[in-house]
Amino acid sequence: MNNDSPQAASNQFFKTRLGVIAATVGSAVGLGNIWRFPYEAGNNGGAAFLFVYIFFVVAIGIPVICAEFVIGRSTRRNIAGAFRELHAGFPWNLPAGTGLLASFLIMGFYSVVAGWTIYYLYESFSGFGGIAETAQLHERFDAFTQTPWKSLVCTLLFLLVNFLVISRGIRNGIEKFSNIMMPLLVVILLAFCINSLFLPGAKEGLSFLFSPDFSKITPGVVLSAMGQTFFSLSVGMGTLATYASYFNDRTALVRTASVTAVSDTIVAILAGIMIFPAVFSFGIQPEAGPRLVFEVLPSIFMKIPLGALWSTLFFILLFMASLTSTISMTEVSTSYIIQEWKLSRKKAVVVNAIIVTVLAVICALSFSVLSGIKIAGMTFFNLSDFLVSNILMPLGGMFISAFVGWRLERRVLRRQLTPEGHSARTPRYISLIVFSLKYVTPVCIFLVFIFGLL
Ligand code: PHE
Repeated sequence: MNNDSPQAASNQFFKTRLGVIAATVGSAVGLGNIWRFPYEAGNNGGAAFLFVYIFFVVAIGIPVICAEFVIGRSTRRNIAGAFRELHAGFPWNLPAGTGLLASFLIMGFYSVVAGWTIYYLYESFSGFGGIAETAQLHERFDAFTQTPWKSLVCTLLFLLVNFLVISRGIRNGIEKFSNIMMPLLVVILLAFCINSLFLPGAKEGLSFLFSPDFSKITPGVVLSAMGQTFFSLSVGMGTLATYASYFNDRTALVRTASVTAVSDTIVAILAGIMIFPAVFSFGIQPEAGPRLVFEVLPSIFMKIPLGALWSTLFFILLFMASLTSTISMTEVSTSYIIQEWKLSRKKAVVVNAIIVTVLAVICALSFSVLSGIKIAGMTFFNLSDFLVSNILMPLGGMFISAFVGWRLERRVLRRQLTPEGHSARTPRYISLIVFSLKYVTPVCIFLVFIFGLL
């Protein structure tokens, strides 16, 4: 362990094993599972997408999470400092740059959607204005997102909460809170899954999600599934490396990586089981895009007893799940600014907040006044999402895995991945991870890029 590291100096370690899991799972589980997964699956053929996605979680996701953990914990530095410490010159250190860029861009559009959860929370109180028709929810979504001040207020409110939490260093408090909140979210999701199974469209919804039509797999679908894997697991932009720089030496990396990946995937699948039966019951298009769950969820709440209460609870939980994710995104650039520019945490947060707010305002307005401005056919909101998920994060992941697989001293890698107290031979799964990092992961990502983008 590196004892002169900024983390050691400020004694900023996660104190317990549960704290580590809560933080990494808290980062992974968020809007990516409940908002983005259903709409990406809806856009890309349902079950076919799900199968490719699960393949990527296992073949790419878990190994790259391990690689990020190794980089973070062996150096205990921010993402740029970590690559420097490991003598990773160009091009190996590219993920430092792409990771920082991604952390700003992702905050820009993620906080807009997190702002939607605030608005829908507010709407829950009024029972969505007393409407009873799904079709009206479509207009309601438009009326909200296309009114600049409404969407700006919600986005800025979310950012305010996010940066307050971070600047006051109450991240730990939030994590304690999320120890209760995450299981609660899963319980609520389960309850809604059961409810959905009794809807008239249940059969159609489940077969959309689970019985694959493999002819639907196109290079574009594969690229989207890979993007979703990186996005949902928070991997490829240094978030997990930054968190691992706060792990202590006893944290078992491979186990933490697997628990994170499995829990994240379960939550996404639950979200799918909740959403798709309702999609078919209420006659909503699965290809509705980013608005999908914001039409489906209220449709469900409108039809159940005590709907307003369920709806309030659900959007509070979704808001909290978004917050634990944005806290982790922001930590990439905050720890970079603190350690590389030698600023205090408070100042680093201010710099961060300024950059992110500008981007978020542009994203929020790209549903209204800026909706006519398109780059490569995409609004700024869509472009940020596409760039981060489908390009920057996988690119970062490709270099991270190739670096750890090919360049990092094998001794360091084995020591980091071997759980403490495991004195016998190196566990067999380590060779599997190394193999994947050297060959499977970089080659897979490279091929998906070639076919998906050209
Ligand atoms: N994984 C988070 C989610 O699913 C999003 C995220 C991406 C968080 C990148 C941190 C870094 O919502």
